[in-house]
Amino acid sequence: MIIRRETPADRPEILAVVQAAFPEPVEARLLRELFAAREYIPELSLVAETEQGEIIGHVITTRGWVGESKSLGLGPIAVLPAYQRQGVGSALMRATIDAANLMGESTLVLLGSTEYYPRFGFVPADSLGITSPDPSWGSHFMALPLAAHVSGSHGRFRYAEPFNSL
Ligand SMILES: CC(C)(COP(=O)(O)OP(=O)(O)OC[C@H]1O[C@@H](n2cnc3c(N)ncnc32)[C@H](O)[C@@H]1OP(=O)(O)O)[C@@H](O)C(=O)NCCC(=O)NCCS
Repeated sequence: MIIRRETPADRPEILAVVQAAFPEPVEARLLRELFAAREYIPELSLVAETEQGEIIGHVITTRGWVGESKSLGLGPIAVLPAYQRQGVGSALMRATIDAANLMGESTLVLLGSTEYYPRFGFVPADSLGITSPDPSWGSHFMALPLAAHVSGSHGRFRYAEPFNSL
């Protein structure tokens, strides 16, 4: 398996992965909108591909903000059900973290399972002074301070525009 950047030609296959991984159509619709959004970042839309050229996983991270400062919002992430629990999601997460660090980004933010993401270094976002857009998300709203993180950039997190119409 390799992790590489997505190309526009991959998108039908990526959307099929997302539809297979999530029971509802919400995430596939969100992803389609994120591909077309101003906040799309080509370096941070990654696929996991088998040696045979099958796309088995995808993760996207788009521009977000903490107050007025640039940040990143991760998600959706999806792995084909038949390939889950074999390290594909972890490889996509680590590649995203490496790429964001190489880009000099300061924080990576997501909403997700408190069982899964802490293993990559994510902590409750409020412990870094990053306020959730929705207080009901509680500790599921998490952030990872990257190499360029400076403590003191506090504020409310704002996702890329397509997240507002969820
Ligand atoms: C979440 C997802 C991307 C993880 O990818 P993966 O390739 O299965 O994950 P990995 O193999 O790298 O890691 C497996 C570990 O994560 C745990 N894990 C995976 N998904 C989890 C979840 N949704 N909640 C809690 N733990 C989860 C597994 O228990 C396993 O733990 P272990 O190593 O201690 O046994 C994948 O399971 C998926 O596509 N799920 C459906 C879509 C989804 O829920 N996306 C995330 C929304 S936040």
